[in-house]
Amino acid sequence: MGVNQLMNEIAGVGRDSRRGGYSRHVYDYADFEMRDWFIDQALHSGLDVNTDRNGNIWAWWGSPGADAVVTGSHLDSVPGGGAYDGPLGVASGLAALEILRDKGFTPAKPLALLVFAEEEGGRFGVPCLGSRLLTGAIDPDRARALRDAEGITLAEAAVKAGHDPKRFGADPESLAQIGCFVELHVEQGRGLIDLDSPIATGSSIIAHGRYRFSFSGQGNHAGATRLTDRHDPMLPAATVVAAARRAAAAMTDARATVGRLVPTPGGTNVIASTVDLWLDARVAGDGRTAALVEDITAAAHEAAAAEGCTLTVTEESYSDDVVFDETLRKRMDDVLGGVPALPTGAGHDAGILAGHVPSGMLYVRNPTGISHAPEEFAEPADVESGAQSLARVLAELSG
Ligand code: GLV
Ligand code: MN
Ligand code: MN
Repeated sequence: MGVNQLMNEIAGVGRDSRRGGYSRHVYDYADFEMRDWFIDQALHSGLDVNTDRNGNIWAWWGSPGADAVVTGSHLDSVPGGGAYDGPLGVASGLAALEILRDKGFTPAKPLALLVFAEEEGGRFGVPCLGSRLLTGAIDPDRARALRDAEGITLAEAAVKAGHDPKRFGADPESLAQIGCFVELHVEQGRGLIDLDSPIATGSSIIAHGRYRFSFSGQGNHAGATRLTDRHDPMLPAATVVAAARRAAAAMTDARATVGRLVPTPGGTNVIASTVDLWLDARVAGDGRTAALVEDITAAAHEAAAAEGCTLTVTEESYSDDVVFDETLRKRMDDVLGGVPALPTGAGHDAGILAGHVPSGMLYVRNPTGISHAPEEFAEPADVESGAQSLARVLAELSG
């Protein structure tokens, strides 16, 4: 089945009628459907499927073994996300293997597709959870205790899904099988539309972290409480939103975003007792993300004190800058006849793997650059070109 047809097959899975787009989060119903779909497709293509102890799904062409050429991505989405971020890499992997098989290609090295669990952190907060667990980048006790918005732990959700969370954690045997990893992904930005190319390789990812700001004040009556008597945590929370933009704008190539803010109890006529918000901060270069977050945190503490509120700041995840393996990138570039190389501000499982095995990215042009939103798009011709490019790259790497 071609990649566009594969994408069409999952177009109805996990649609979010309230937010628009898709909400597919690890171990929820949509995620089950996506995972089942992938397993069915892989088995139908004659691949051997197994799920590792961290919930990542592997599909092997031939016997599993060392020095494997591995491609893949993720099936989960952000809340109200687009159709392509993640699934395009998985569908392209399935299609690429079929292209190779149809050509009568026989890989000299083992070839595998890998679907990572929970790349976006849309449910449990920590991005790239499947690859972090696999590589030992997150302590399994910490992972098991992560809670979703309903208070369900990752361990509880995994049990419900039939996985044994006691087995979570670094998996050196699985990791040792990966000779190199290539993730195909929809472009998140407008690099390729200006360069007039459907495909790019990835050169780097900028450092990024997620930080929880928890403000505590005094819940009270919105009409009856004098302004001078208030301890309203929404005020310092608003300061963080504005400080994030100010501080990022003062640095080169910095991004800072507050995309999620939860007041408790959350009533129109109620001064909140607490406000939690999450800051997403990204700056290329050693220590520069920490400097950005320190600047915003200082403004938050000052505003909290002025309102008689308290504040705790917790780092929920951090990933350093990634420079993708240049030898691998060059090899992909040669196979593709010379394509642009793009840096990105978006995180990927390939970035987590890059600290352990040669890893790289292929990007498929996104005409608007919009991502993490329902408008995310790639032209069918470019999607097809992506799968064909991935097939050529996999043939080169495994031939
Ligand atoms: C994942 O897509 C991220 O960059 O947040
Ligand atoms: Mn994403
Ligand atoms: Mn992604």
